[in-house]
Formats: sequence, C-alpha cells, structure tokens
Amino acid sequence: SLPNEISAVLIRWYETHRRELPWRETTDPYRIWISEIILQQTRVAQGLEYYLRFVERFPDVRSLAGAHEDEVMKLWQGLGYYSRARNLHAAAREVSGKYAGLFPADYASVRALKGIGDYTAAAICSFAFGLPHATVDGNVYRVLARLYGLETPIDTPAGKREFAVLAGSLLDPARAGLHNQAMMEFGALQCVPRSPDCTVCPLAGRCAALRQGRVDELPVKAGR
Ligand code: ADE
Repeated sequence: SLPNEISAVLIRWYETHRRELPWRETTDPYRIWISEIILQQTRVAQGLEYYLRFVERFPDVRSLAGAHEDEVMKLWQGLGYYSRARNLHAAAREVSGKYAGLFPADYASVRALKGIGDYTAAAICSFAFGLPHATVDGNVYRVLARLYGLETPIDTPAGKREFAVLAGSLLDPARAGLHNQAMMEFGALQCVPRSPDCTVCPLAGRCAALRQGRVDELPVKAGR
C-alpha cells in the first residue's frame, strides 16, 4: 500500500480508539516534553498522576528553572530513573537562560537539550510545532516490522537506521503530529506485543506478518 494510505488508515483508526490524555490536549512544547520524559520508562497509568502534579507545581519552563533541585526530585520520588528529573531541571535552566524561557522550535535546538534524544525531539517537534519528524519508539518498531515483515533486528545500528528511514517515509508531513500519535497508539492498543487480535485490525489485509503467520515472531531482537 502507498505510505499515504497506511497513514490515513492509522489516523482513521486513531480518531475512534484514542485514549484521552492531558498531554494530547495541548501543543505546549513544555508540557509535551514533561509527558514524554515521564513516559519513557513509566506506564501511562502511573505516569498520569506524576504528570498532573508536576505541571501543576511547575506550569512552565521558568518555574521549573527557578526551582530548587530537591523540590524537583521530591516530585519525582517513586518514578525512578532519577537522572531524568535532573536532566529536566538542567534543560529547563538551559531554555530559560539561552532562549529567554521560550522553548526552541527547531529540531536541532530541541535535540541539543540535556536528556532529549531522537525520540523525544521528534515527539516535541511534531506534536507541538507540526514539524515532519517521525517518532520511532518500541511501538513503532513492532508495527513496522509486522506490517512489512522485516526481520532486521531492531536493536542494532543498521536496524535502527532502516526503521527510522521507513518511519519517515510513511509520515504524512502535513499531519506529522497526528500521524505519530496514531502510529504509537496503534502499537500500544492494537498491534500489541502478545496475542494481538488481528481479526479487528484495519491493516490486516496489508500486513506481511499476518499473511505469513509470523506476527508473534516480529520484531526481531539481536540481543547481546
Ligand atoms: N508513551 C510515550 N509517549 C506517549 C504519548 N504521547 N501518549 C501515550 N503514551 C505514550
């Protein structure tokens, strides 16, 4: 199928199946950033309450930049991976100092902030600014590996490159944020790791893995 058709199917599916989550109701790059950092190693159900408390106490970059480190850490207590909170605080001070508290609106500047990698930069740039960068997370690897029957291990430099190129080629640049949300939500709710219900999948007719009976074998990891 054409990349645009895949994107259109995913977006149509998303509009009826999406979960309502507070960070999906905003285009504020600061709130999107906070949510993505929290959700990196934390499930939505647990991350939600932390997110709400965090943005209530620190509603913008400047309030976070002006906080004492121990208060930031205290709000993070229980979430683990505490370097995330220290990096958030450091990056907030960076934005506050270097950009007068205004979040930078280009990929290179966002990517250069402390604690922000390729995924988070693409999420912020596409959700907040509509920039055409594909978000490639574990959900996206799984959807693409199955849809195209790709056996390239996802945990190698060559695999990461291949999937990133493919994800970028599927992106509808005029609807980058919506496309990315749809792709990731589809992986989280429909194309799940174990025993997905392919009988209700809107991409079943185009899925190489389903055709070949290999859904439960993909994606492949090289392991170490
Ligand atoms: N996990 C990572 N980013 C997410 C998002 N934007 N919505 C739901 N779950 C997520």
